[in-house]
Amino acid sequence: MSDIVSVITGTERHHSIFEECIRKLEVPVCSVFKEGGTLAPVAFESGAEKVSTRDTPKVNEKFPLAAAASGNQVLRGRGRNPSPATGKRVAVLFSGGPAAGGHNVIAGLKRVLGAGNTLFGVRAGPKGLLKGDLFEVTDASVAQVLNTGGFDFLGSDRTKIKSDEQFASVKKTCLDYDLDAIVVVGGDDSNTNAAILAELLFKGVKKDGRGVQVIGVPKTIDGDLQIGDLLPISFGFDTATRIYAELAGNILQDTPSSRKYWHFVKLMGRAASHVALEVALQVKPAVALISEEVAEKQMPFGAIIDRIAQVVVARAQRGLNHGVVLVPEGLVEFIPEMNALIASISQVMAASTAQVSATPPERVAFIQGRLGGGQAELFRSLPDYVQTMLVADRDSHGNVQVSLIPTERLLKDMVAARVTQLDPKVKFETQTHFFGYEGRCGAPTLFDAAYTYNLGLTAGSLILAGKTGYMASITRLDEGGWPVALPLTGLLNIERRHGKDEMVIEKALVKCDSPAFRYFASRRDEWAKEDLFCSPGPRQLWGPAAKQLPMTVALNRGYASLAFKI
Ligand code: FBP
Repeated sequence: MSDIVSVITGTERHHSIFEECIRKLEVPVCSVFKEGGTLAPVAFESGAEKVSTRDTPKVNEKFPLAAAASGNQVLRGRGRNPSPATGKRVAVLFSGGPAAGGHNVIAGLKRVLGAGNTLFGVRAGPKGLLKGDLFEVTDASVAQVLNTGGFDFLGSDRTKIKSDEQFASVKKTCLDYDLDAIVVVGGDDSNTNAAILAELLFKGVKKDGRGVQVIGVPKTIDGDLQIGDLLPISFGFDTATRIYAELAGNILQDTPSSRKYWHFVKLMGRAASHVALEVALQVKPAVALISEEVAEKQMPFGAIIDRIAQVVVARAQRGLNHGVVLVPEGLVEFIPEMNALIASISQVMAASTAQVSATPPERVAFIQGRLGGGQAELFRSLPDYVQTMLVADRDSHGNVQVSLIPTERLLKDMVAARVTQLDPKVKFETQTHFFGYEGRCGAPTLFDAAYTYNLGLTAGSLILAGKTGYMASITRLDEGGWPVALPLTGLLNIERRHGKDEMVIEKALVKCDSPAFRYFASRRDEWAKEDLFCSPGPRQLWGPAAKQLPMTVALNRGYASLAFKI
């Protein structure tokens, strides 16, 4: 083999020059973990600060042990823990969709637990916890995944642990592995699950009657797990939005070069539009839709189409026959008449499972026949590729699978028809894109790499301080970062889901009165008129662009700069 061939072969299995390099990158650590010179677990103190929702009294009744233990008080990291526990056996699992930085949570945990405790990885998410599929995490294996993207070190899945049988399986796994603690790395639903497990495992699990601690870590690229200053953002959001912004920036750069296309770009983010808003702020496209605004203003589908078509026509009249439209993944569910239509379809499907199991065309016809006048007409007016997806099987939570609805294609087709009506002379050539999976598993940005490592240090410190029922967080991102712990019971509220009241962590949606949205709204007309876009380029781990916070986070938290000061 020639030298060059052996070098190329040597890059197989995650040994690219880039991956080799990032593994060696030192991860910045919040100063409180280094008080006294060496990295060590911190102790926690509670002040007067509490978290609560309108339903906290009812939640406290349902979660008496965890709620009484925490008093729903926020804990703040306060210097080195003088007597951290030893001999703890801790399991960590990923839950839900991947997000960049997950491997660094494990690295931070492993580091802070040190040689005096044992860390187990749970394979394939909550399902692995039910099956008891665990393995011991070693320093050598952590070194291999440090700063790399993806969740492949453990795997993940979307199993909800909610039945008595499942709870019994979790207890069995705890006994089989003699576990003292479980760390659940997940989004709003997974942290809700962590709250339930914390209560259930509070005591009487181990042979000596002790309980098993449960700590949550906030993950999701969607950015819809946020709690004001206490949890500025979930991890993975920064990396995903920087990757999408790089891709959207490249497309924008193509538009005045080739001068012929309008690009409709759908961006992942199942419900909230944080991703679309962040990418819009980073690249300044001609049009960006924000689902929450559509819902707040009760904007009908026709009005949305009309607005985009008018931008297309106005730009064409100024010689700009090109542009980019950003579309949030969950848009259709926020358009009032579409939302009502989806609800009616779901009801028909739930009430007639036998007929609904038919092939797609029969299913479409069956459901169409059961919709009321206006809704049947709206359904009929939609292209077949949307009708088929609207009547497709619901996900495990009974939701329509929005990521499968080609909203970008639907908008592009409807805008084309409207542009022709407004001005038949306008040339309107289009391309569609869906940026989703491209952004979830890329190597973490420096922000996500550091944020997640410090979340791991925080989660491990909570375990060594004997805490349970908390979610780890890092606050004050503009001042070096500070570990805090949020009592999970204080975050739960009651929501009606699938005909039942459930205690869940509320999804944080984009607020139309937030500084980030207001800034976007103040600039978008200018972005529509002229090409004011910019191209943020690839994410960087060194140099001036490396330590940049998400723009929406910096604006909403009122930070003085975009710099992640750690
Ligand atoms: P999480 O909420 O679990 O982090 O997942 C978010 C997400 O990436 C959404 O943006 C997207 O709609 C969904 O996952 C797609 O999930 P799947 O991996 O099941 O296709």
